[in-house]
Amino acid sequence: MGIVFNSTANTITLHTRNTSYQMKIGNLDYLLHLYYGSSICDADMSYQIMQYDRGFSGNPYESRNERTFSLDAQPQEFSTQQQGDFRTPSIEIVNGDGSYSFHGKAAAHKITKGKYKLDTLPSTFDTEADTADTLEVTLLDAVTNIEVALLYSVFEEADIITRAVRVKNLGNAPVHLKKIMSVCLDFLNGAGMDLVSLPGRYGQERQVERQHMTHHIHTIGSVRGSSSHQQNPFVVLCDRDATEDYGKCYGFSLVYSGNFLAEIELDQYDQLRLVMGIHPKQFVYELKPGEVFEGPEVVMAFTEHGFTGLSHLYHDFYRTNLCKSKFVTEVKRPVLINSWEAAFMDFDDVKLVNIAKAAKNMGVDLLVMDDGWFGKRDDDNSGLGDWFVNEDKIRCGLHKLVEQINALDMKFGIWFEPEMVSEDSDLYRAHPDWAMQIPGRPAVRSRNQLALDMSRKDVQDYLIEKVTAILDGADIYYVKWDINRSLTDIWSNELPGERQGEVYHRCLLGLYRVMDEIITTHPDILFEGCSGGGGRYDPAMLHYYPQYWVSDNNNPIDRLKLHYGTSFVYPTCTMGAHISDSGKFIPLETKAVVAMCGTFGYELDATHLSKKQQNICRKQSSLFRKYYHITFKGDYYRLTNPFEPGNMTAWMHVTKNKKEALLSVVVTNLTCNGPQEYIKAKGLKPDALYRVNGGDEVHSGAALMNAGLPIPREVPEYSAFQFHLTTTR
Ligand code: GLA
Repeated sequence: MGIVFNSTANTITLHTRNTSYQMKIGNLDYLLHLYYGSSICDADMSYQIMQYDRGFSGNPYESRNERTFSLDAQPQEFSTQQQGDFRTPSIEIVNGDGSYSFHGKAAAHKITKGKYKLDTLPSTFDTEADTADTLEVTLLDAVTNIEVALLYSVFEEADIITRAVRVKNLGNAPVHLKKIMSVCLDFLNGAGMDLVSLPGRYGQERQVERQHMTHHIHTIGSVRGSSSHQQNPFVVLCDRDATEDYGKCYGFSLVYSGNFLAEIELDQYDQLRLVMGIHPKQFVYELKPGEVFEGPEVVMAFTEHGFTGLSHLYHDFYRTNLCKSKFVTEVKRPVLINSWEAAFMDFDDVKLVNIAKAAKNMGVDLLVMDDGWFGKRDDDNSGLGDWFVNEDKIRCGLHKLVEQINALDMKFGIWFEPEMVSEDSDLYRAHPDWAMQIPGRPAVRSRNQLALDMSRKDVQDYLIEKVTAILDGADIYYVKWDINRSLTDIWSNELPGERQGEVYHRCLLGLYRVMDEIITTHPDILFEGCSGGGGRYDPAMLHYYPQYWVSDNNNPIDRLKLHYGTSFVYPTCTMGAHISDSGKFIPLETKAVVAMCGTFGYELDATHLSKKQQNICRKQSSLFRKYYHITFKGDYYRLTNPFEPGNMTAWMHVTKNKKEALLSVVVTNLTCNGPQEYIKAKGLKPDALYRVNGGDEVHSGAALMNAGLPIPREVPEYSAFQFHLTTTR
């Protein structure tokens, strides 16, 4: 059992293979946090907690004349408000009498087999191969009867602990939640820690940033109504000297696609607190007596093996315990060609069939018809919401078009942007009140479109009906689900004025309902998420879609950074990566090496490629298939950091049994008469012999990892190499 309650010490310890997490029902039933890190077996870590009389740090009344116990200096599992802890709280609640306080004391705990389930939100799951145990600790405020249940699931083998929170109003007056964080983690000594996050922007998502913690609250978050391009709901706290391969790293990954906040506070005593959950901005949630509110899940991991060690924990876990799509394990992802950069909205059925015919020569399996096929949609000023085929463009009708593609022995995919509406659309003309707009104020437009109020059941039902009709009307194999603006004008006509603080979150709940419904009724369809590129690339979306479009930026050199940053937490098999015309002077071969880091496909007008180019592409598609078991199932290693000066970017995938690997290198800069460069491999068996690209060259794993492979120098700019390593025995 991964969870142990020690009734003498009053501690509860969560054990994974290599880590331990301990808490204590301490003084006066406050739930204290004792430890998270490398395994401590059955040690009682209570001795870590020291108590002093701290000036200006209040003491709970029940401690009477004892001045040394203050929540302001105690490590806690769930920080509260108005209890003498002036650091950042996990909860802010307005009680029925108007008071702002929650005094939660540990009232009960239970340990059960299996993973907890969230009723309203996507979350990870356990599998037969990977069982979990769950701890639920209930904190009760005896005055208001507000109960906070802290949920922990322990995945022993995966070295993962998940947390979530449920608030229940057991009192007899409505209360208002203004802040509810899913995780609170206090470090007794947080000096010398760094924070790593993934900020970015449109076209440059998830760039890696690292900062030293200083004495204030560092915040990472989004208030754009989605997890956003600008930040990602993932942070790492690590030792100051942690590197790619060594050092302690803690990861926190929030399974939520809306406004989120991570606060990291280094306090006056060098203790560090991290809280993470739904962003409190414009969040006020009413809980009537008997009602429950669920906060999203946080997936936590700890390793002593640096960023690579941490990434491997997340990659393995997210590959198996996040998304139930059959494309995760049973069915291989197809090589696709997408019409967006090939034709934008300027296409008809004939053009699409011609692209498909040319793509067939390139070894492509699937044609995706992107934006522009529905309603009145010749540019991005109209049509969103009208999810019926524009037969001026698709003159033969969708069914016949798909038949023509299928006749080429290719599959067919389609694009939707369900959460949005154009003012110039039949939908908006019929239901202007379905768009989010604050009464009496013109709404902010973005890409000339408005956002639908996804909190409304009628909107959800409409989308389920329309999308389903398209999916069931033809043989659709793939769906790209897009969203192309941030949310503003947060208002729902369905809710009274005083409940508008619930709209952000309710929109998410509505979206999850729509996706759940459509995806579970279409288990044979491959879904890919997208938000103006990689603007909502988060674990909640990856719960529904096995792959996500990394970025609208297809330039292969920029992609090196995009893939590098994304790979900190998300497995490379989730990364939508295509070859396009972007990067004019970059060889097709190099583009392919970069796209093979992810799901691989094309986004160009295949009819413009010469026979020779099409042949090159066909070889690339078959290489992608050849290496699939390595790149989709193997361990991924970042070999160089593209954010640091250097002439090459390299990465590799190694099969779990270490018998095969694919080492990829892109020469990003040619120095005139420069030194010979060597790329050192990782993750190989030191004593195994590896053959390089099936030829006569053979080296030991030790040689490849310690001395490296020489990268040919006399090559054209932006050359790339793939070294396929196979053990000789
Ligand atoms: C977004 C996506 C693109 C494309 C367009 C269509 O920008 O990221 O890939 O689908 O929308 O409008």
